[in-house]
Amino acid sequence: MMKDKLKFDYDDGIKVVVADASHEKYVDEILATITDSAKKRGSGIASRTHEYLATKMKERKAVIALAGPEEEFAGFCYIESWGNKHYVANSGLIVKEKFRRHHLATRIKMMAFSLSRLRWPHAKLFGLTSQTAVMRINTALGYVPVAFSELTDDDAYWKGCGTPEDPHCINCDILARSGRKYCVCTGMLYDPAEHEGEPLPVELPEDVVKMAKEAAARNER
Ligand SMILES: CC(C)(COP(=O)(O)OP(=O)(O)OC[C@H]1O[C@@H](n2cnc3c(N)ncnc32)[C@H](O)[C@@H]1OP(=O)(O)O)[C@@H](O)C(=O)NCCC(=O)NCCS
Repeated sequence: MMKDKLKFDYDDGIKVVVADASHEKYVDEILATITDSAKKRGSGIASRTHEYLATKMKERKAVIALAGPEEEFAGFCYIESWGNKHYVANSGLIVKEKFRRHHLATRIKMMAFSLSRLRWPHAKLFGLTSQTAVMRINTALGYVPVAFSELTDDDAYWKGCGTPEDPHCINCDILARSGRKYCVCTGMLYDPAEHEGEPLPVELPEDVVKMAKEAAARNER
């Protein structure tokens, strides 16, 4: 299923790349787009700083989509490792409104997924989402819905949702009330042990593959 569903050929002038330090100039627009969209949806979202996203870019743990010759910001997501690198999450997915419904989020997630698999080959990939689009993309990549108890128990990850005293997401009181057992979001997990030998959904450029494999060999965070 995965292989059929994720084969897309696009010729829309939007390039999707693994970000680096040169993309820091987009960080403020990315943050504003995330905040705006959360406001429109009436949802809360883990707060990130300029510094945090800029560091993700420098560490090559982010994917950015740029449109046209002017390289207009179109979409973004970043990667975090948790629980001593046993778990990896692709977070902060955002596509600018005018570029939505053209499989751009799919392309961004495919690249983040491929990068994550190379860089942390033994980690379980997971995510929390309440978005149909994200559930569809994750499903196509091989994620399955799971109970929260199968996700990382790293407190630092769950802090992203906030607490009733210091809320980030508007639903964090539910999470607290259930003792972190369930909430509005669906937890989704990709276990590499169940996908041995499967090819990555996209081929990454040679320099990125080299960087990711070297980081994996050094067991970097
Ligand atoms: C969620 C978001 C990233 C999706 O971006 P996108 O580029 O429009 O998504 P895609 O075009 O790749 O869509 C993937 C699939 O979901 C479907 N889809 C997209 N938006 C959808 C929506 N609002 N409702 C239902 N299905 C939707 C698409 O049709 C596609 O399905 P298909 O592969 O079967 O054709 C974008 O809407 C967004 O930035 N939202 C605000 C931020 C957000 O919610 N982030 C996720 C936090 S977990």
